[in-house]
Amino acid sequence: MLERLLVTGAAGGVANLLRPRLVGVSKKFRLTDIRHFVSASDLDETMIGDLADSAFVDQLVQGCDGILHLGGVSTEQPFDEILPANIVGVYNIYRAAAKYDRPRVIFASSNHVTGAYRTQEIITPNDPFLPDSFYGASKVFGEAVAKVFFVKEGVESAIVRIGSCFEQPSDLRMMSTWFSPDDFAALIKSCFTVETLDCPTIFGVSNNARSFWRNTEISHLDWHSEARVEDLLGSMNEPNVSPEEVAAGLMDYHGGTWVKRPLGTG
Ligand SMILES: NC(=O)c1ccc[n+]([C@@H]2O[C@H](COP(=O)([O-])OP(=O)(O)OC[C@H]3O[C@@H](n4cnc5c(N)ncnc54)[C@H](O)[C@@H]3O)[C@@H](O)[C@H]2O)c1
Repeated sequence: MLERLLVTGAAGGVANLLRPRLVGVSKKFRLTDIRHFVSASDLDETMIGDLADSAFVDQLVQGCDGILHLGGVSTEQPFDEILPANIVGVYNIYRAAAKYDRPRVIFASSNHVTGAYRTQEIITPNDPFLPDSFYGASKVFGEAVAKVFFVKEGVESAIVRIGSCFEQPSDLRMMSTWFSPDDFAALIKSCFTVETLDCPTIFGVSNNARSFWRNTEISHLDWHSEARVEDLLGSMNEPNVSPEEVAAGLMDYHGGTWVKRPLGTG
């Protein structure tokens, strides 16, 4: 069990899904976001600040033996809005990790690093980047930072290219991309308990029949997906795809409609 896990992006959607599922991973939790938020547990430490502020990030990381780095801009935006959190912020996290005892980092990358692949293509982490947005490009940078701090400074990371982490799918694309929050929590536990993590790149996706992604770097982890979107649907109907979504390319590319939108527009 970790002594203290730092969770960035703690006011966000994924952090709120994961926090209750991470009981037992760490004795203490330090939660941070740029937005004010209230933790469900009054035992959690909360710190408000900007990931682009290197002195603040130093304070965050000191005393933590694990980092779940979820914080950042999570949609396509003009580059100037992405730069502080997703470029400077991810660098600050890794720089501070190298400085303060090398806690393991789980880095929330995104399927949008390869979002411009066609949906007919099945890819692995060995396939080249093909980002569909400034956002996707910023996550490519984050993945590179994770790798360079592993190679040069020995900071171990799991680079998790999250598909769609929600309680349940809300559109047809998510029949391929859905990542069960339970699966994500189990992956995080496995990454913090395995003896040697190294720096694997992992598609964060459940065992969905229509997944576009195959993982090749998880054999050393005690983890495999326990969920399938098809099983979850059970009593629900499969989400419909509207003519507007077809026209927007929802089902044409791994990244859905993002590929066809003008750069920088969310
Ligand atoms: N939700 C998904 O399915 C999904 C898919 C792919 C990748 N991801 C990645 O996972 C992470 C979490 O996603 P989410 O859906 O919870 O996103 P979210 O937008 O709900 O949460 C991100 C949080 O980061 C915070 N943040 C933004 N800029 C910041 C800054 N400069 N300093 C400090 N905090 C800042 C925001 O205030 C927000 O609360 C993100 O990095 C996102 O890119 C999520």
